[in-house]
Amino acid sequence: MSDTEIRKGLAGVVVDTTAISKVNPETNSLLYRGYPVQELAEKCTFEEVAYLLWNGDLPTPEQLAEFETLERSQRALGPTVKRVIDDLPLTAHPMDVVRTAVSVIGASDPDAGVSTPADNLRKSIALFAQLPAIVAYDQRRRRGEHLVEPRDDLGYSANFLHMTFGDVPDLVVVNAFDVSMILYAEHSFNASTFTARVITSTLADLYSAVTGAVGALKGALHGGANEAVMHVFDEIGTADRAVAWLDTALAEKRKVMGFGHRVYKNGDSRVPTMKAALDTLVAEYDSPELGHLYETLEAAMGERKNIKPNLDYPSGPAYHLMGFDTLTFTPLFVAARVTGWTAHIMEQLEANSLIRPLSEYVGAEERHITSVAD
Ligand code: ACO
Repeated sequence: MSDTEIRKGLAGVVVDTTAISKVNPETNSLLYRGYPVQELAEKCTFEEVAYLLWNGDLPTPEQLAEFETLERSQRALGPTVKRVIDDLPLTAHPMDVVRTAVSVIGASDPDAGVSTPADNLRKSIALFAQLPAIVAYDQRRRRGEHLVEPRDDLGYSANFLHMTFGDVPDLVVVNAFDVSMILYAEHSFNASTFTARVITSTLADLYSAVTGAVGALKGALHGGANEAVMHVFDEIGTADRAVAWLDTALAEKRKVMGFGHRVYKNGDSRVPTMKAALDTLVAEYDSPELGHLYETLEAAMGERKNIKPNLDYPSGPAYHLMGFDTLTFTPLFVAARVTGWTAHIMEQLEANSLIRPLSEYVGAEERHITSVAD
């Protein structure tokens, strides 16, 4: 072994600059283009945040109106994507359906290989507009329900819920959903965003990069955790069983989903905002037991390991209360994070350099072949 320093998992390695978001674990803050995410969640819609991530500034009222018109005009599922989704078995994980659908949209775009900034922005908006229809339809077909067409008189989140459930829920639910989309939208060089940047660095097209990013997000250590959190809640059942469940899980050296973070060691900056949204849903759906279980497990994890929840911990039960199937949770994360991914893809192309790290070889020493004849 040489004395080369190896940083497993690239932990602590700074690989590039970005002007899209700033994560500061010391001050427990997260800024999108300079704005605190909590402020964006309180004062903006997800459409405004998407615009901000792509363009660097919040839209003027005229710019927002133009952007919304464009987004609303592209919400319907195309016939090819619908046919491919219909052909996929119901045993397919919804993340596999989303990944396939993104790939189909790319394969159907005659300009998939055109990579000008304007064209990449066009593709980003198209994916942003169509992902809700994909996610909503996939959940509905699993329930034996028909596709619900989008409404262009509704904002992004109200329409997303309308396409999923066939009606628009109370404003408090729409707002909680919108907040979750804003909080999930962007988080610097996380695993899936980095995947998108690696693929982009080879000069592959935007759809390929997003398809790869969906694959990276699926894992339970990343986006798959919001689904896994709900399995934990289901497994525990009621708050009075939480501590015993945790002690067994920790004794078995299991990772408790929804806790811990590679960057934030003292709490995820997004959790208080999402927890407040969850509280409104607990009240709306009169589900105090779920809120109690949440808080009991969090407190016990704090006592036993001093490990704090990440965003997936409040968002999992929030999506559950809204009525989403547990398997649909990570696709919701995709619908939000596609904004961050595509902003990073465009930023990567502004000053591209092929991402190609080194490894230290630890296999067999050089050796030579003795032929069978010898
Ligand atoms: N449950 C139990 N123990 C944990 C957890 C957890 N969720 N997270 C960290 N630890 C412990 C580890 O066992 C380890 O303990 P040890 O030093 O005694 O061995 C220590 O804390 C450090 O953990 P690492 O896994 O080395 O920390 P890392 O920075 O690599 O991991 C990660 C971060 C992968 C997120 C981890 O905390 C984890 O697996 N969490 C559960 C999955 C999860 O919730 N992922 C969502 C991430 S956020 C997002 O995508 C929105």
